[in-house]
Amino acid sequence: MSKALEGVRVLDFTHVQSGPTCTQLLAWMGADVIKVERPGEGDATRGQLRDIPGVDSLYFTMLNHNKRSVTINSKTKGGMAVLERLIQHCDVLVENFAPGALDRMGLSWERVHALNPRMIMASVKGFGPGKYEDCKVYENVAQCAGGSASTTGFEDGLPTVTGAQIGDSGTGLHLALGIVAALYQRTHSGRGQKVLAPMQDAVLNLCRVKLRDQQRLERTHTLHEYPQYPDGKFGDAVPRAGNASGGGQPGSILKCKGWETDPNAYIYFITQAPVWEKICDLIGEPGWKTHPDFAKPPARLPRLKQIFERIEQWTMTKTKFEVMNECNALDIPVGPILSMKELAEEQSLRETGTIVEVDHPTRGKYLSVGNPIKLSDSISEVERSPLLGEHTDEILTKVLKFSPREVAAIKASGATGQAPKAQAAE
Ligand code: COA
Repeated sequence: MSKALEGVRVLDFTHVQSGPTCTQLLAWMGADVIKVERPGEGDATRGQLRDIPGVDSLYFTMLNHNKRSVTINSKTKGGMAVLERLIQHCDVLVENFAPGALDRMGLSWERVHALNPRMIMASVKGFGPGKYEDCKVYENVAQCAGGSASTTGFEDGLPTVTGAQIGDSGTGLHLALGIVAALYQRTHSGRGQKVLAPMQDAVLNLCRVKLRDQQRLERTHTLHEYPQYPDGKFGDAVPRAGNASGGGQPGSILKCKGWETDPNAYIYFITQAPVWEKICDLIGEPGWKTHPDFAKPPARLPRLKQIFERIEQWTMTKTKFEVMNECNALDIPVGPILSMKELAEEQSLRETGTIVEVDHPTRGKYLSVGNPIKLSDSISEVERSPLLGEHTDEILTKVLKFSPREVAAIKASGATGQAPKAQAAE
C-alpha cells in the first residue's frame, strides 16, 4: 500500500516541539523526513527532561518518530554546501528557529527559492508580522498571547495555561495543513511558496469561540451560558468560565463516587436539550420535564448551578464509568475525566495505534502517541526516532549522491561533526 505523501521529501530544520510535531505528522503520512541537527548536541530536547542518563529523552523520541537524522554545522562553508544541496533535493523545508536565524545562516526565502523554485518553505514563528514579530516564543507565551490563558480558569483565579499543547503542537498541526495545501497547489502552479503559521494566530484560531463571545458580550453585556450569570458581574472582556461549556449545550464537571480520594473521579456532564427529559428521569426529577422553571433551555440558564448540583447528587452515587455507561445508553453526552495512566492502559487506543509501544536501541521500550489522524488507504507505522546523526552517511551518499572523495572532504571540514580546531573556524 502506498502512503499519502510518498515521494515528498522534507528538509526538517525544526527543533523543540512546534516544528517537530508538524514534520512527524508529515512523516506518518509517508513523507521522507530528513532532520538536520547541529553536530554534537542536536535538537536541544534530546537532552531535556531526561529520565535515563545519556539516553535521548522521551521529549525528543515522542516528537521525532519516522525521521532520519543528519548532522550538519550550518555555520561552516562545507555545511552550507550540504544544506544547499539538500534544498535542491527536497520538496519542503520546515523550520522554527527564532526570527532572523535562517536569514543569518544565509537561507533567506529568496535564496531558497533561487536554489529550488518548487521548494515550499514553511515556518513557525511566535508572532506574525507586527510589533512582536522578532520575539522568541514558547508554548505558554503563545497560550497567553493567543487568548487562551485569559479565558481559561476560574472566575476568581489567575489566568491559566492548559496542559494541551495548543501553542506548539496546535501550531504544528496548522503548519502541516498549510504545507499539504501548498503541495497540492504546486501540482497546478509548478511553484513553491512560503507558509507561515504564527503561534499566536494558531492559538487564537483555537480560541475562536471566545472571540465570538467577546462580540456577544459587547452587544448584550451578558453571557447567559457563563457561570457569572445571573448573579455575578460581567466586565468588558470575556471572563474565565471555569468548567462551564459556555456553548449552546450547558455542561459542567461533576463529582463521582470516590472523588474524596481519587483526583480524577469526575465526569463532564452535558445537559443536551434533546435528551433533557431522559436526564430528568435518570436523576429522579421527572417533574422538571414539565415545570416552567426547567422544561425549556432558556428557563434553565439562570438555574444551571441548581441543576448541576442536583445532577451531581446522582453522579456521586456512581463511578465515572458507571455514569458513562448509564448515560450513553440513553444518548446523554458525558466524558469521564481520564488520567494519563488510564489512557496509557486503554485497550481501544492501543488497537487503533493511537497509543503505541516503540522499541529504541538505547532506551528500550516506551509508550508514544501514534498518528491520531486515520487514513483508510495510507497506513501509519510508528518507527523509533533516529539517534543523532544516525543517517548522515546515508543522506550524503544515497540522497545527495556525493562521491566518496567529496564525502571525505565534507567530513574533514567539520561540516557534519566536530572538526579539528583550525577547520572549525571556517
Ligand atoms: N548548525 C549550526 N548552527 C545552528 C544549527 C546547525 N545545524 N541549527 C541551528 N543553529 C543555530 C542558528 O543558526 C541560531 O544561531 P544564531 O542565533 O547565532 O543565528 C541558533 O542555532 C538557533 O537559534 P534559536 O532558534 O534562537 O534557538 P533558541 O534555543 O535560542 O530559541 C526558540 C528557541 C524556540 C525560543 C526559538 O527558536 C523560537 O522562538 N522559535 C520560533 C517559535 C517556536 O517555534 N517556538 C516553539 C518552540 S517549541
